[in-house]
Order: sequence, then structure tokens, then C-alpha cells
Amino acid sequence: MEEVVVLIVGAGPAGLATAACLSQLSIPYVIVERESCSASLWRNRAYDRLKLHLAKEFCELPHMSYPLDAPTYIPKNQFVKYLDDYIERFNIQPKYLTVVESSTYDNDGKFWSVMVRDMTRCVVVNYMAKFLVVASGENSAVNIPMFRGQETFPGVAIHSSSYKSGGSYSGRNVLVIGSGNSGMEIAYDLATHGANTSLVIRSPIHVMTKELIWLGMTLAHHLPLNIVDHLLVMMADFVFGNLSKHGIMRPKKGPLVLKLETGRSAVIDVGTVGLIKKGTIKVQGRVTKIKGKTIEFQGGNEASFDAIVFATGYKSTATMWLKNCESMLNSDGLPNKKFPNHWKGENGLYCAGLARMGLACIAMDAKNIANDIKSNLDSMSMSG
Ligand SMILES: Cc1cc2nc3c(=O)[nH]c(=O)nc-3n(C[C@H](O)[C@H](O)[C@H](O)COP(=O)(O)OP(=O)(O)OC[C@H]3O[C@@H](n4cnc5c(N)ncnc54)[C@H](O)[C@@H]3O)c2cc1C
Ligand SMILES: *[C@@H]1O[C@H](CO)[C@@H](O)[C@H](O)[C@H]1NC(C)=O
Ligand SMILES: *[C@@H]1O[C@H](CO)[C@@H](O)[C@H](O)[C@H]1NC(C)=O
Repeated sequence: MEEVVVLIVGAGPAGLATAACLSQLSIPYVIVERESCSASLWRNRAYDRLKLHLAKEFCELPHMSYPLDAPTYIPKNQFVKYLDDYIERFNIQPKYLTVVESSTYDNDGKFWSVMVRDMTRCVVVNYMAKFLVVASGENSAVNIPMFRGQETFPGVAIHSSSYKSGGSYSGRNVLVIGSGNSGMEIAYDLATHGANTSLVIRSPIHVMTKELIWLGMTLAHHLPLNIVDHLLVMMADFVFGNLSKHGIMRPKKGPLVLKLETGRSAVIDVGTVGLIKKGTIKVQGRVTKIKGKTIEFQGGNEASFDAIVFATGYKSTATMWLKNCESMLNSDGLPNKKFPNHWKGENGLYCAGLARMGLACIAMDAKNIANDIKSNLDSMSMSG
């Protein structure tokens, strides 16, 4: 048994930001991470050409800016370097290869009892934590739907988190399933590496440019979201034209409102739309059936494929190990209160990075959590 004031689960950007904010307030904490490194999503589960989708001013963690000469859209490796510098600056020492297996609230003792497996020493440690911060990520496990006949597909089928580059797919027929930012960008990467690429777009999406998103996020500080959305859609239609004949429909709600209400992001075009318009990338409706190499789509189209990339997203796994969290998380392991009240549960339970609002929100969560813990500790020490 080990007593700690704060236990942070996960050493991705959210856990690191929370650790930094706590140390600025001289609050002791322990941070545990199941992988052998911090930010494994960025180091090991992201494709080569990935850059931050948002301009750097929206992607800073608390108390440390990017170097002045950093580009507006930070490439993956530079973001990882920033995190390494961040870890050093705030002397964060995650316990790596340490998996949280279960956690319950002890009502008598008023602490969180957290069972943690230390895989290097092959022991289980029981932490008693006054405060518990869930920073295990919205991307903790891959989400892969099962299609009828999927087991008969003889080719390579991978999740986008295992995709690095299109180099090895040249000349092959590849299907990308999913049209979020990852799916759209991976389709572009495949096509530019000479793969015969098709893309499944099931639901309506907002396609934007990164400049439009920057403008929208900047204007949103001064104007109501629905007005900014209206402006964004008008400008996007001007830039891209009406994409419905290419199989890309717009949602009824505007891009910023949709993000706030559902967490679904607008897609930031990296050149995919141009290739769709040229016919280089072929758009298909949802998959109805897989039979060997042949994949059938809604509307009756079918084609033969050598490989599938599932860009079908991720899920949170917090509810698999965290009990007594109903005050904060729903059964999907995501906050049940709406932004900006999502980060706090009862009995010293918090979450950072689960609001589906990116790094800017992660920075806010971390600051809110550290300040809230500080005021709790202050009032405890006054009353005791
Ligand atoms: C391809 C891609 C591009 C993105 N681009 C952007 C962008 O440009 N801008 C932006 O703002 N956001 C972006 N995001 C969103 C992204 O989710 C955040 O940027 C960020 O990585 C989330 O940080 P996090 O710390 O919440 O989660 P993660 O980075 O997923 O970290 C969570 C950590 O918790 C660990 N963990 C999980 N379960 C346990 C357990 N039981 N025990 C111990 N450790 C555990 C995991 O191993 C992981 O290291 C992108 C996401 C993806 C997938
Ligand atoms: C490319 O893919 C499409 C369908 O997705 C298919 O009709 C076409 O024959 C393929 N081209 C080649 C050269 O294989
Ligand atoms: C886009 O084109 C489709 C038909 O191709 C049409 O039904 C729709 O109204 C158009 N949308 C706009 C905003 O012009």
C-alpha cells in the first residue's frame, strides 16, 4: 500500500499537463503510464506525415510556449520534442510500464484505492489516493467495426494507428474506411504514393481548410458560434464548391456547433478533395458486405481490394478499470457533463483530455484540476 495525494493515470499530453500544473502549485503526485514511453499515441501510433491540425497557439500545454521559430502547424516529431522538453522542464517522472487495473472509491477511508500492475517488477501496487485524475485518453483502444464477411478478406487489414506511410502500397487497390481527419489524410498519402485508393464516406462531414479553422477559432472568441459557422460554411463552399456530387455531404449543424455538441471535428483538407474531384481517389458509401477480396458498398457498387485501412477511430477504456465514476463518466468512458463542466466528478475524481476538444481543452482541464485540488487541500488544512 502506498499513500499519494494525487494519482494521474496516463502520461499523454493531458497527464503531463496536469503533472506540470500540480508541480507549479507544489502538490505531490504520482503519474503512471502503461507504455514504456510518454505520449505513445504520438510516438508510436501516428502516421509519418502527421502535423498538428490546429495552429500552434491552440495547441500549447500550460506554462510553456513553443519555440518562437516553430512553424504554425507543428509536425509530429517537433510536437514529441516539445513534450520531451516539457517533461524535463517540469521534472515529470512517469512510472512507465505501469497499468492501472482497477480503481474504487473507499467511502469509509475517503480515498481512491487504485490497483496498479508494475510490469517491470511484476508486482501489483495498491495506491491510496486522495485525488484521482483520469488522463487515459479518448484514444485508449482502437475501434474497428465488424462487417459481414470480414473474416474472408485475404489481404492486409490494419487500423489507422498502425499506418505509417503509403510507400508499401504502391500499385495496390486500397480501401480506406472512415472519413475523419486520419482517413482523409491517409487516403491522400496512399494516392500520392501510387496506390489505387478508394475512400468510404458514410456520414456528412464539414470539409474546411486549416486557415478557415484558424479564422473560425479566432472569431469564436468575439462572435456567437452560429454566426461564425455560417461564415465558415459559406467560405468553404466558395473554396471547394458543392461537393455533394462527389459523395461528400454537409451536416445540418455548423462545424463549431457540431464539435461542441458531439465532439465530431471538421475535416481539414490536405489535398484529398482535389484528388477526389480528379477521380484519383474514389468515394464509396458504407460497406455492406465483404466476400474474399470483393467489397460491396451501399448502392450496389463493388470492387476488389488488396488492403483495408480502418480509420474508424478510437474509444476510451476508462470504465473498464474505474468503478464509482458515475458522477463523471458515461458507459463509453467519456464525460457525462457538457463542456466546460466535464472535468470534475465527486470525491476527488477528475478527468483531463476526455472532452473531445483537443489540446487547447487539455490545457484548460489541467489548470482547472490543479487549481481545484489546491483549493480542496487548502480548505482541508484550514479545517484540520
Ligand atoms: C492522428 C491524431 C491526430 C490528432 N491531432 C490533433 C491536433 O492536431 N490537435 C489537437 O488538439 N488534438 C489532436 N488530436 C487529439 C489527441 O487526442 C490529443 O492531441 C492528445 O494526444 C490527447 O492526449 P491525452 O493525454 O488525452 O491522450 P493520449 O495521448 O492517448 O494519452 C493517454 C495515455 O494514457 C495511457 N493509458 C491508457 N490507459 C491506461 C491504464 N489503464 N493505465 C496506465 N496508462 C494508461 C496511454 O497509454 C496513453 O499514453 C489528434 C489525435 C489523433 C489520433
Ligand atoms: C482501381 O479501383 C477501382 C475501384 O475501386 C477499380 O474499378 C479499378 O479497376 C482499379 N484500377 C486498377 C488499375 O486496378
Ligand atoms: C449541391 O448540389 C446538389 C445536387 O448535386 C443540390 O441538391 C444541393 O442543393 C446543392 N447544395 C447547395 C448548397 O447548393
